[in-house]
Amino acid sequence: MDARIRILVIVACFFPVLVESAVRHYKFDVVLKNTARLCSSKPIVTVNGKFPGPTLYAREDDTVIVKVTNHVKYNVSIHWHGVRQLRTGWSDGPAYITQCPIPTGKSYVYNFTVTGQRGTLLWHAHILWLRSTVHGAIVILPKRGVPYPFPKPQKEVVVVLAEWWKSDTEAVINEALKSGLAPNVSDAHTINGHPGPVSSCPSQGGFKLPVDTGKTYLLRLINAALNEELFFKIAGHTLTVVEVDATYVKPFKTDTILIAPGQTTNVLVSADKTAGKYMVAASPFMDAPIAVDNLTATATLHYSGTLDNSPTTLTPTPPKNATSVANSFINSLRALNSKQFPALVPQTIDHNLYFTVGLGINSCPSCKAGNGSPVVASINNVTFVMPTTALLQAHYFNISGVFTTDFPSKPPHVFNYSGTPPKNLQTMSGTKVFKLAYNSTVQLVLQDTGIISPENHPIHLHGFNFYAVGRGIGNYNPKTDPQNFNLVDPVERNTIGVPSGGWVAIRFRADNPGVWFLHCHLEVHTTWGLKMAFLVENGKGPNQSILPPPSDLPKC
Ligand code: C2O
Repeated sequence: MDARIRILVIVACFFPVLVESAVRHYKFDVVLKNTARLCSSKPIVTVNGKFPGPTLYAREDDTVIVKVTNHVKYNVSIHWHGVRQLRTGWSDGPAYITQCPIPTGKSYVYNFTVTGQRGTLLWHAHILWLRSTVHGAIVILPKRGVPYPFPKPQKEVVVVLAEWWKSDTEAVINEALKSGLAPNVSDAHTINGHPGPVSSCPSQGGFKLPVDTGKTYLLRLINAALNEELFFKIAGHTLTVVEVDATYVKPFKTDTILIAPGQTTNVLVSADKTAGKYMVAASPFMDAPIAVDNLTATATLHYSGTLDNSPTTLTPTPPKNATSVANSFINSLRALNSKQFPALVPQTIDHNLYFTVGLGINSCPSCKAGNGSPVVASINNVTFVMPTTALLQAHYFNISGVFTTDFPSKPPHVFNYSGTPPKNLQTMSGTKVFKLAYNSTVQLVLQDTGIISPENHPIHLHGFNFYAVGRGIGNYNPKTDPQNFNLVDPVERNTIGVPSGGWVAIRFRADNPGVWFLHCHLEVHTTWGLKMAFLVENGKGPNQSILPPPSDLPKC
């Protein structure tokens, strides 16, 4: 045997870790399924007939191949929320941004490698309001042989929080667009598909989480709701937060989690009682005068050996406007920033961006909706108009006329953003992107506006994680606020709440060429136009350039 081969064989035997990364194949069939929830039954769009959908498992460095086939009447696309998609924007999924959607009867194969990430993420439909029922978990395990940086739990459980409407969600949003006003709030929140015994349907049981005394459980929490930030707690049990958005954090204890749509949070729970049933609760957070679904979804932590009919220990939920509970959770989040998992916060900035996020009124005398002034939403006063050709295709193939590159780096009109809004609430519309050179560093301050009402906006950036370096109430002050930025161990994530009437500052490095969507993860705001895209140019050579599109990429 050739000496080199012999060494390779020996190395492979002793260090199997070297040949570990695998290819994982999944088949996602998008189908209509009749599902009973809340004493009503209706057909919903699902993946493989499941609600929530199937969990996708991978290890860091694995390649994931998902063949999605569309069997429903809607066009469909699937987004792997939080997966960085290094150079593989074609597999990111937002319809008309990185791909044309998959038409009825057709398939598309998503193919991506999970690099430098471990933890919990989610996948969801990224077109219309289909993600209300088309969503599920992504579990990324650390590389084989690499332990968690926290005590290994005896068991892991995926917990998906969502919202349920009795009527069809496409009808809900279409009616709202016709009226020009806000859509109906949901009829219940759900925990792993079940609302629990809410008043309108007392017979409905809830999700049951069986536990054994003395064991520790890792709960992989996902907020897959369309429009609601949620508090989550378990009666009588402390939660230890170890990870958010598939990045490790310095562990801390809390009794209440805040989780916005698109965010994920891993917590350790020790089953430290001898027996009993304990209420698990998910309830809304909204600290602005905006209507929300007030119902608390409940589930049960059920100790083995406890009779089914024994009483459940209840827990009060925070009032929906509990800003202080939300703040104390957010302020406790810090990147783990260990030697093995360092926080690589950009210390210098190439692009200093200031984006206002909020609502507006479109004065449109000929519109029936809103008596000629329907509600819209915008970033820097631009209400994003969805193109009919995907932006990434237009960029890659140099198709002109699809978008312009003049997205403003700061608000076009200066006003007291967090105070009384100006008289003219009209936004401009366009399909505008902001161009970034490969590997440039970006500081982006997201400023809420009080137009119509201040409101907490969970903003999601595709293609990147970012560091949340600063946060405040009122208007951002570019002279004084940066002095308080945390550039050492700020939490790293992909979705962040801009506080009601306040701002957050994030930093990231544009090291992923492609077209990357940035939008509010409250679906109603995305629909209204609170979205834009970054165009990150190729760097030098093929390793810093977008890969060519796959041959089955759907056509518009
Ligand atoms: Cu989770 Cu663009 O979305």
